[in-house]
Amino acid sequence: MTYECILTELRGEGPRKTGLITLNRPKQLNALNDQLMDELGQALLAFDADDGIGCIVLTGSERAFAAGADIPTMLPHTFMSAFKSGLISKNWETILQVRKPVIAAVAGFALGGGCELAMMCDFIIAADTAKFGQPEIKLGIIPGAGGTQRLPRAVGKSKAMDMLLTARMMDAAEAERAGQVSRVVPADQLMTEALAAAETINGFSGPSVMLIKELVNLAFQGPLSDGVKVERRYFHALFGSDDQREGMEAFLAKRKAEFKNS
Ligand code: CAA
Repeated sequence: MTYECILTELRGEGPRKTGLITLNRPKQLNALNDQLMDELGQALLAFDADDGIGCIVLTGSERAFAAGADIPTMLPHTFMSAFKSGLISKNWETILQVRKPVIAAVAGFALGGGCELAMMCDFIIAADTAKFGQPEIKLGIIPGAGGTQRLPRAVGKSKAMDMLLTARMMDAAEAERAGQVSRVVPADQLMTEALAAAETINGFSGPSVMLIKELVNLAFQGPLSDGVKVERRYFHALFGSDDQREGMEAFLAKRKAEFKNS
């Protein structure tokens, strides 16, 4: 598959690889247009369906992860055209169908839809140059890809209100303190760290990895009691897997587990 707005490659040393996707519209600071979002969705689903891949890393450039939805293509829209064409809906949520972990490796600007896209990933590793913000209010609009919903869950109500209402950006250190990102690393270490995290995940049992992702997401979607109940069922279910036996036996034998994804 050839793409124009993204680059895709496989990375990693082990039997399961990492699918690396790089947003690639450098002149527009990776502004997210329809073609890019279509291509991103296709690449994500292809990696997700590939048994040889355990984890996906999504990144941008040194200057920008993504500076938001593409403003020139949004400008002419009316309510009716936005509604009928499904603006910021039909191809923006494909990422939520992916069952394998998606790590966002963010350097530079992650603004508007770029910040929202990073928040749709499973966790964010930030370069010390990263800047997060939801500046839609400056354009006379509001976030359209979940920013008003995911940002308060990520950083709490007060900071989310501050960012959404004032359009100020958070630097990487503030984003880490607020819980928006899992770790901050020097910019020149960003890809090494993100790919190493992916490699670690690739070494674990695929079904355990996918279930953890599903359950953590459930914790944010429904009542806590429902999530805990479903977690218990899946916990019991994994005692029917080969990898559970292998993992526990390897621990007791003080050797490295060899998972078979079954
Ligand atoms: N869409 C399209 N093009 C964009 C863009 C965007 N979101 N953001 C930046 N660009 C373009 C600029 O127009 C500029 O192009 P030209 O060189 O052709 O003029 C190029 O990228 C470089 O940008 P700047 O010259 O502005 O660079 P800067 O370093 O001075 O500023 C910036 C960088 C702070 C990111 C600034 O570009 C900016 O504020 N961009 C807009 C950010 C924004 O408002 N994002 C939200 C979009 S709406 C949205 O995302 C809705 C949603 O919820 C899904």
